[in-house]
Amino acid sequence: MSEEQAKVDNRSRLTTEEFRRFVRSGWAPRPDARPERAEVAGYAARRRAVVSAAYPGERLIVPAGGLKVRSNDTDYVFRPHSAFAHLTGLGADREPDAVLVLEPRFGEDGEPAGHEAILFIKPLAERDSDEFFEDARYGEFWVGARPSLEDIEAELGLTARDVAEFADAAVKDAGQVTVRLVRDADRALTAQLDSARVEHGQAEEGMVEQDDDLAHALSHLRMIKDEWEIEQMRNAVAATLVGFEAVIAELDKAVEAGRGERWVEGVFGLHARHQGNGVGYDSICAAGDHANTLHWIKNTGDIREGDLILIDAGVEVDSLYTADITRTLPVSGTFTDAQREIYDAVYEAQQAGLAAVRPGNRFSDVHAAAIRVIAEHLHAWGLLPEGVSVEDTLDKEHGQYHRRWMVHGTSHHLGIDVHDCALATRQEYMDAELKPGMVLTVEPGLYFKADDLLAPERFRGIGVRIEDDVLVTEDGHENLSAAFPHTSDEVEEWIREVRSRR
Ligand code: GLY
Ligand code: MN
Ligand code: MN
Repeated sequence: MSEEQAKVDNRSRLTTEEFRRFVRSGWAPRPDARPERAEVAGYAARRRAVVSAAYPGERLIVPAGGLKVRSNDTDYVFRPHSAFAHLTGLGADREPDAVLVLEPRFGEDGEPAGHEAILFIKPLAERDSDEFFEDARYGEFWVGARPSLEDIEAELGLTARDVAEFADAAVKDAGQVTVRLVRDADRALTAQLDSARVEHGQAEEGMVEQDDDLAHALSHLRMIKDEWEIEQMRNAVAATLVGFEAVIAELDKAVEAGRGERWVEGVFGLHARHQGNGVGYDSICAAGDHANTLHWIKNTGDIREGDLILIDAGVEVDSLYTADITRTLPVSGTFTDAQREIYDAVYEAQQAGLAAVRPGNRFSDVHAAAIRVIAEHLHAWGLLPEGVSVEDTLDKEHGQYHRRWMVHGTSHHLGIDVHDCALATRQEYMDAELKPGMVLTVEPGLYFKADDLLAPERFRGIGVRIEDDVLVTEDGHENLSAAFPHTSDEVEEWIREVRSRR
């Protein structure tokens, strides 16, 4: 359910009965044609089948979530909950306040026999409704036409019903059937179901389960991508390459303009919005010492000719799958010796991390491989405390000195969420074996803050990260971002080549 917008009447208009009649009439009939079946529909059905098998006989409720107020009568752009997007195939902007219900079916013997997928949506309102022209939040006059129930059924191949029927459907057979809900998808709806539970006298018996079991299962379900999802990831990475190259072509302008980090953010954002739905997360456009602030999303800084600029950005395509790529570029086109020394160390760490991405290895092996190389370089540079060896610092109980210069993990799962599958347990995530179909980042870095007196002076103010998106395959991995440059020489050549296109 959407958040309430503030109601102010200082701009309200008088609507006469004459106008009402007038504005409701004189419209051409709606087209008969239904949308084609979406390519994702079959994949979404297979994902639902896995969920159905895991919860026989239980009602499963997966809300899209509602509109969120940005201020007064202005909402944020709508983004459905990731579990809802995954199980319906609906992506950008679709559909506020919708709820997917997997309704259990039973055979003649009373045994559970799968689920029916029912999508409750706000159907398209007729032209003779008040909503049509009076409701600035949902009305067709203001935000365009929504699909009808028939449209949704044709597009997605499931049963569609009016969301007005949801509340009764959710509590049907109260107490007889276990009801599970993705509780964080729509807090207002969760509160409504919790109070319905009390009204039905089920406070103790648990008509709506109070744990996050379903949300956890649906988050974990996304860990292995199907072929359609992998295609989405390829598209996201390809669009991200377009964005990065557009940024390189504009770097001179960004230096000249002042507040160059914002220029870079804007250029990438333009292409993200043009190629896909937008950025998959706030872009980090960090020149010079800003690269050492890991989540530098203010992007208020100037870019200077001799700086490196660390750009961590990804395009989210319309299906909501996002890339997550970092490249660290010399603004002049050429690394200084100190910049190259650090870049090459990070590159070496990334190669070690990438080499560890194969089935049979654990997820945490990728970080272990990369961080060992980072620790070796820090040791060789004499930065670890006196007497601390590489093994000492890698010792989780006692060491970890290297984390001063690389505090983050090397990898995370990637998909609809930039940090995908976040509710999976440690056992299912860090300690789990890599399996074909997983998509993860490999993104080591080294960060020497300008005021770090323990860093060599020549390194201070330099931060480097290299981040790629990789698919685990049967016999290793495929680097989905292989088209990006990797070595310091390749980065320089890339900048030259992109600039020469002008
Ligand atoms: N951009 C967020 C990350 O790399 O994890
Ligand atoms: Mn990342
Ligand atoms: Mn990133």
